Amino acid sequence: MPNISPEQMRFWSPEVRELEPYVPGEQPKIQNLLKLNTNENPYPPSPKVVAAVQSVLIDSADVLRLYPDPDASALKHAIAKQQHVDVANVFVGNGSDEVLAHIFKAFFVQDKPILYPDITYSFYPVYSQFFGISTQTKILPLNDDFEIDVADYKQPNGGIIITNPNAPTSIALGLSAIEQVLQANPDSVVVIDEAYVDFGAESAVSLVEKYENLVVCQTTSKSRSLAGLRVGFAIARPHLIAALEAVKNSFNSYPIDRFAIAAAVASFEDQEYFVAQCQKVIVSRDKLVADLVALGFKVLPSSANFIFACLPSKDAGELAKALRERGIIVRYFNKPRIDQFLRITIGTDEQNQRLVDTLKHEILV
Ligand SMILES: Cc1ncc(COP(=O)(O)O)c(C=O)c1O
Repeated sequence: MPNISPEQMRFWSPEVRELEPYVPGEQPKIQNLLKLNTNENPYPPSPKVVAAVQSVLIDSADVLRLYPDPDASALKHAIAKQQHVDVANVFVGNGSDEVLAHIFKAFFVQDKPILYPDITYSFYPVYSQFFGISTQTKILPLNDDFEIDVADYKQPNGGIIITNPNAPTSIALGLSAIEQVLQANPDSVVVIDEAYVDFGAESAVSLVEKYENLVVCQTTSKSRSLAGLRVGFAIARPHLIAALEAVKNSFNSYPIDRFAIAAAVASFEDQEYFVAQCQKVIVSRDKLVADLVALGFKVLPSSANFIFACLPSKDAGELAKALRERGIIVRYFNKPRIDQFLRITIGTDEQNQRLVDTLKHEILV
């Protein structure tokens, strides 16, 4: 952010002056960089995705003159088919960050407290502030094992958002626990952010027909290797989807461009590739965990494409710095309770081995 003087700041609206924006994981241009800091997939998307993107232009570059389908109907149909829901249950947005923003606006902007854990996706407090509901937000601490205690979510509220598996802890919550939250809150919307669900957790999409207050949010950025395209989606009953559509059409009618629609459709149609890539990441994760435990790390049980690990004998900030000096970037959060942990994205086996070798032979010697 450039240095802005108070005099220049007078042009900013009072609300914007107060904003504390989300800080995304860095995307540095360093030679021989090993980037394990933003939970991207280490594998490319399906070859069918690449062909679909190319065919947008090969068919006729003239299509770029025209707006894309504001409803992204082909994409909604592909998602509905893959998720075994009706197309009326699907909402799509420009990355799940945008879908989440619309969720906050559609359901959470009211005068009752919004509930979420103290350690969770750090965009939630940013949205709370952006939509003017931070003072109503009630932050509920995870227990000492960094788990969600569902009993905490049985109190008056104006909405609940839970990441499952949670980030950055990587720990998953079972569907019966999620059902307890849904049943205890029949009059508020319960959002389950499943950005990482495909790497080993149970999806709550199967509960959408049963609960009229459930919204499940997912993304193509992680398990489908499409972070660069920005496609996220929500699954819910049509009366909730209608609220999201109302917000979306009051903000940006064309959030998903032609390339993103074509690519995401191809990805949802190539289920075989998707399942195989997720499985590869899961197998690599288990090996990396074993290797890090052998080096003395404590690693929380992960159902995601990242792990949350600490090394009791070494300061996590120092460790992140030492890795960075050797071209390996992991995510360090200088925040209460988690400032001795590193969030490490699962790479390919070769990338993970480089991390382990660097720790073993260069840093922990
Ligand atoms: C828990 C969680 N939700 C949502 C997102 C946003 O994903 P995207 O906007 O790429 O779909 C992320 C990204 O890191 C995340 O960690």
